[in-house]
Parts: sequence; C-alpha cells; structure tokens
Amino acid sequence: MSRLNLTSLRKMKVEQNKIAVLTAYDASFSHVLEHAGVDVILVGDSLGMVIQGQESTLPVTVDDMVYHTGNVIRGSESVFVIADMPFMSYANTDQAVSNAARLMAEGGAQMVKLEGGAVVADTVKQLTERGIPVCAHLGLLPQSVHRLGGYRVQGRDAGGAEQLVKDAKTLQDVGADMLVLECVPAELGKRVTAAVDIPVIGIGAGNSCDGQVLVLYDMLGITPGKRPRFSHDFLAETGAIPAAIAQYVGDVKSGKFPTLDQQY
Ligand code: KIV
Repeated sequence: MSRLNLTSLRKMKVEQNKIAVLTAYDASFSHVLEHAGVDVILVGDSLGMVIQGQESTLPVTVDDMVYHTGNVIRGSESVFVIADMPFMSYANTDQAVSNAARLMAEGGAQMVKLEGGAVVADTVKQLTERGIPVCAHLGLLPQSVHRLGGYRVQGRDAGGAEQLVKDAKTLQDVGADMLVLECVPAELGKRVTAAVDIPVIGIGAGNSCDGQVLVLYDMLGITPGKRPRFSHDFLAETGAIPAAIAQYVGDVKSGKFPTLDQQY
C-alpha cells in the first residue's frame, strides 16, 4: 500500500477537506492512528517532554528522532509521516541537509519540520531544492521557549500578526510544502490559511486552518500537568483509545473541533 502524498494533501486544502494530524512516537500507536483515519502523523520533538520527561524539547537529539520515526514508519502503511528536526540540528545549512537526510533515509520520514520564520528561509530553500519536503512551523516556537519567556500565544499585536503572515508567504515562496501554526489568535489563523496555497495545520490557531494537530498524550488526557486550552480529552469522552482517536478525526473533519472555547 502506498502512503498519502503531498499532492493529495494539497488537494484536500483546495477541496476544503480538513486534514487530521496527531503526533505519535511508536509503532503501536502509529497502527492505531492509521486505522482510526488519521491522515498525517507528526513524530514531534514533543517526545522530549511526553516520552522522555524532559522540561522542554531542547534535549532531543537527531538519533532520538531517527529512532522514533523508524518506529512510526514500521507501524503504519498509508499515513503521511513528518519528522521534527530537533533544536540546533539545522543551525546551518550543511547540518540541516545531513540531519534531514538521516530522518528521511534512516528514519523513513516523508517530510521534515523545522521552526522559524525568515531566518530559516535559506535553509528551507536548500532542503527543498535537494528534494527534501519541508513543513515550516510558525507562531509559538517551542524550541525558542526561553527566548519567548514561556509558552504564550503569539501574534496578538498588529505588528506581530503582519510579520507572521509575511513569514508564511516567504516560507511558501522558498519551497515549504506545509505549515504548522501554533498558538495564535483564531483570526490570524484564518488570515494565514487564506494567504498561502500550502496546507496550514493549526494547533491552538482556530478552526479555519486546513487541518488540526494535537500532541497524542494531551488528547488522551495522560500528559501530566495542566492541559492546554486548545486541547481536549477525547479519551474521557469515549472510554477507549481507538474510539478517542476516531472521535478526534471525525470532529476535525466535521469542523466540530476546535470549538470557540478551544481557540484564542
Ligand atoms: O513537537 C510537536 O509535537 C509539535 C506539535 C506541537 C505541532 O511540533
């Protein structure tokens, strides 16, 4: 069986079919997600926090990402799989190319994701020109948590919002094929989604985005600590993991998730 590809994902945007994305880090969950109808699995560096128990995503290594991406690939057949490039693994273009190549060749990822705006534009260009599909990540950038002073909503002021729209267009122009937009006001999520042709996957970015992503353990209600406002405990609602995932997929596709209470 062949995996979903970028052409199909772009068609989903054009046809306004919402894209359901979840994170996963191992073969068993990868299998469950695929069978519940998830379109895309993100092997997020959130694994630093939810798998390794670290305080942030910063300690995650390329070896960690290759290992978990391989697990996810072995557990699935048809989902599209994106692997996160960890903190500082794309600090310069040469590093970015060799680390992204490992995620694809050894891990089996179909796309890599990296955080940042115009500052990573040249890197995105170099990667995509070499045949490595890139998902950009704007808004709240967890790898910059110390610079941002915490996990806060971004783009609330007019200048910040303008810059974010500009960055999204720049990243599309240099070859990014997808964009994750994290923790921004719903109105800005809508603006960015309309401004670019590539699929925009929101997390705390409102329900106008082309798709939604959540950290798997957040939406199962098992991440320790306070759940982010934009998440929802689908396991509490359904009582079983496959049913929880299927409910999430259904709610994303129907536009029921996120609700007004789950956005900014
Ligand atoms: O690492 C991750 O899981 C992510 C999502 C929060 C989008 O980047």
